[in-house]
Amino acid sequence: MIRVAIDGPAGVGKSSTSRALASYFDFAYLDTGAMYRACAWWCLHQGIDLDAGDLDEQAVTETVGDFFTGGHFEISVDPGDPKVMADGTDISEAIRSSEVSSRVSAVSGIIPVRHVLIAAQRAYIERERTEESYSHGAGIVAEGRDITTVVAPEAEVRVLLTAREEVRQARRTGQAVKGTGADNVAARDKADSQVTSFLKAGDGVTTLDNSDLTFEQTLDSLISLVRDAI
Ligand code: C5P
Repeated sequence: MIRVAIDGPAGVGKSSTSRALASYFDFAYLDTGAMYRACAWWCLHQGIDLDAGDLDEQAVTETVGDFFTGGHFEISVDPGDPKVMADGTDISEAIRSSEVSSRVSAVSGIIPVRHVLIAAQRAYIERERTEESYSHGAGIVAEGRDITTVVAPEAEVRVLLTAREEVRQARRTGQAVKGTGADNVAARDKADSQVTSFLKAGDGVTTLDNSDLTFEQTLDSLISLVRDAI
């Protein structure tokens, strides 16, 4: 079983390339950013104020705990259809809104919240490793900010995907034009890097700068790294 961990800042193309990589090898795919986004969406949905200054960390932690232990949260690890659900409602699109993008760092910055999500993410990876009944049992691609360093430092392939800030902002702005909410990547990276260090590769982690690479070239580089590990 191959575990592929991919970290990187906002707008680097982690989700699209990780998903394509998982599809290529018929591996499972876990978007951990979608899990943090779903938590922010759920808190807002429960009427919790996530704006700086008014943040009730304990209320957020309890609400996120209930989201997971109460069985409200579901995520599909099928790279062909990676849905996020809350109480049976598909929130995959809602979690990409600018309302969520601008508040997700407030939620992911709360350490007890991270502990809940890290445990859940490890459980998904472990489940793929042990359950033979899953069709994607040969491997999993998990992507986020702390996968190579905290969630799965023992992964067979660990990559830090990076790109220059102006390139990343341009990619996100392009996505916003196509329908995803506006996103200030620099502000989010600044807030996120207070809690997780994803701007520098950890020990043994391969850095791949895709500023001047096409999507296909980035994917090819990732495919080679996985092939080397198989
Ligand atoms: O990957 P994406 O940009 O969708 O992530 C949304 C947010 O989730 C990040 O800005 C960060 O606050 C949080 N996150 C995190 N740790 C991860 C993945 C995402 O803190 N492993």
